[in-house]
Amino acid sequence: MRHSRIVGIGHYVPEQVMTNADLESMMDTSDEWIRQRTGIEERRVVTKESTSDLGYQASLRAIENAGLEPKDIDLIVFATLSPDYYFPGCGPLLQDKLGVDTIPALDIRQQCSGFVYGLAVADQFIRTGAYDHVLLVGAEVQSKGLDYTTRGRDLAVIFGDGAGAVVLGPSDEPGVQSFHLHSQGKHYDMLWMEKPGSANKPIITPEDIQEGRHFPKMEGQTVFKHATRRFGEVIQEALKANDLSFDDIDMFFFHQANLRIVEALCKHLSIPAEKTFNNLSRYGNTTAASLPLCISEAVEAGRLKRGDLICPSAFGSGFTWASAIIRW
Ligand code: COA
Repeated sequence: MRHSRIVGIGHYVPEQVMTNADLESMMDTSDEWIRQRTGIEERRVVTKESTSDLGYQASLRAIENAGLEPKDIDLIVFATLSPDYYFPGCGPLLQDKLGVDTIPALDIRQQCSGFVYGLAVADQFIRTGAYDHVLLVGAEVQSKGLDYTTRGRDLAVIFGDGAGAVVLGPSDEPGVQSFHLHSQGKHYDMLWMEKPGSANKPIITPEDIQEGRHFPKMEGQTVFKHATRRFGEVIQEALKANDLSFDDIDMFFFHQANLRIVEALCKHLSIPAEKTFNNLSRYGNTTAASLPLCISEAVEAGRLKRGDLICPSAFGSGFTWASAIIRW
């Protein structure tokens, strides 16, 4: 039977660091508030680069790590909530940057869960034999779209820019063992960017911009409550589907939304700290990039080794949430 496995991984973050002290000079906030509530100390921000630029750099690293060349990629799956343009998506832009004529490219719009959703898409295409090597990218440029004034402080302090990518290829042994995907659109406006969008006519007005409706908005406490509940559920769902216990998993990777969410979950589920890897303090929440960025750094740090069993999980806007079980 044909399965899929991750054969290469890489990440890329822009050089410029924005610290909590930098934010203090832009809005009414404090290093103490940000650290206490979120665990974030700094984040990366682009100067000029776009989301597809970051995705391109991460892709080159993942393809090299797989021992492949861009021409070996058969399909691009690009997860982002901050595309270069409203349309076309970042998938075709990345195809062009990689110089790989004329392979298919698609975009995933599942925000913080985008990487796990993309993993499921890639796995299906490989298992059916449609494609051999799928490049899955999670990349975000949040900083160009945030309100760095006191009005937008709840979100501006949380998000950062970055990218991570994996290459999936065919395998006789299961690498991706299962995935578990969910959505609940009734909470769409708990974490969203209202405008521009086709729900409005015109899609945006000068008044909308004045009122900041083109900036993301979040009901922080509601998101926090749903996130802790859904993370727990979807991790347990993954374990149950594979007849596994918490002890069987070598590493749990959480979408890096808020260190307090991760800590609450680990306490509730009795997951020891040595089975987790967090880089949120240095990058903030990088949405679709967060999981591949986290897993890639864990590989570099020697915390994740071939043969380990891992459980990545995510929750975010939509709401959407997801988990997977992967033999690394
Ligand atoms: N600096 C200082 N004060 C801030 C602030 C900031 N950056 N952002 C908000 N505040 C203020 C609020 O205005 C509020 O002030 P008030 O009491 O005078 O009205 C106070 O801090 C508390 O706000 P609240 O929103 O209740 O804080 P919180 O304890 O819920 O923490 C979050 C806010 C955003 C850190 C928290 O809700 C959270 O992490 N939610 C989940 C976020 C998440 O994971 N999102 C991504 C999902 S993928």
